[in-house]
Amino acid sequence: MKILAIESSCDETAASVVEDGRRVLSNVVASQVKEHIVFGGVVPEIASRMHAEAISAVVGDALKEADCTINDIDAIAVTYAPGLIGALLVGVNFAKGLSLSSGLPLIPVHHLRSHIAANYLTFPELEPPFFCLVVSGGHTHMINVKSYTDFEIVGRTRDDAAGEALDKAARTMGLNYPGGLNLDKIAKDGNRFAYKFPRPRVDGSELDFSFSGLKTSVINLIHNAKQKGEELPLPDLGASFLNAVVTCLTDNTEKAVKQLGHKKVVLAGGVSANSMLRKDMEELCNKNGWELYCPELKYCGDNAAMVGSQGYYETQNKTFADLNLNAYATMPIDNCQY
Ligand code: KG4
Ligand code: ZN
Repeated sequence: MKILAIESSCDETAASVVEDGRRVLSNVVASQVKEHIVFGGVVPEIASRMHAEAISAVVGDALKEADCTINDIDAIAVTYAPGLIGALLVGVNFAKGLSLSSGLPLIPVHHLRSHIAANYLTFPELEPPFFCLVVSGGHTHMINVKSYTDFEIVGRTRDDAAGEALDKAARTMGLNYPGGLNLDKIAKDGNRFAYKFPRPRVDGSELDFSFSGLKTSVINLIHNAKQKGEELPLPDLGASFLNAVVTCLTDNTEKAVKQLGHKKVVLAGGVSANSMLRKDMEELCNKNGWELYCPELKYCGDNAAMVGSQGYYETQNKTFADLNLNAYATMPIDNCQY
């Protein structure tokens, strides 16, 4: 089954053709990063306009790269939630138009489900059940993945997502957007134990996260140093802040995986590209005899191949939408409405 997949939830306009959920025939991503750099983050209105300008060509390129026409496609999958509403609407409306004109079925795909599915593209042998840590710009979830379409959230952030905290810290350090990626680069030369940050805990919910206090403490440290005219060693500061965030993620992962009794640990989302997180998770999994799965770097950030993969498994569950499909800024992964 060949699925044409479309993704426009944030600042990448992407389209892909994926066969049977696992074989990527094309993967086209038009990034808007250059447009948003001057603003230090994604400007939703600009993102929507740029999606509208790019989407037709991106979908055309994805079909061409896969050596297909729309007549070779069996279904259209589209990210419909969660994300920037104006950005999502561009992809959803384009997919609805294509579904109407071609008569092909329409598959609504949840963005975080697709991030998890990115791993099916990298590891052909990987099948649920497994534990997954989803860390993106907007979400930090620990998930018991019971099947391709059955998810149980076992821990989540109570405030900022890990990626959001990394982006804000990076911005305060004067690093360009996307902050997490640039923080990763400078931290490679730094000492992760140079600065001590508080270890946040959520009382009564040992599997939940809280990153906003951590974020505020690094921002205060930078502002205080500025007021005193002190120069901070950015690689050390970046590495120490990352160390604090990564340690929260690995500590809670260890607790959750032990409670659930899983042997397979999967990473997903933009922050899963982070070198320190991947290295520490590798050590954690080696220590406990667990198998670690991290998506290839090209499938960590937003792309449509992962949407094509999850879309395939949604069809197995008979999840189809009609032309009333809407986009939603928020939507729980374990109870998708469309
Ligand atoms: O999954 P994603 O592309 O978009 C969302 O669904 O939110 O994640 C974007 C997040 C941003 O916070 C970005 O800074 C972060 O992923 N990110 C990284 C790295 N690459 C992207 N964070 C840490 N290290 C990286 N190498
Ligand atoms: Zn994403």
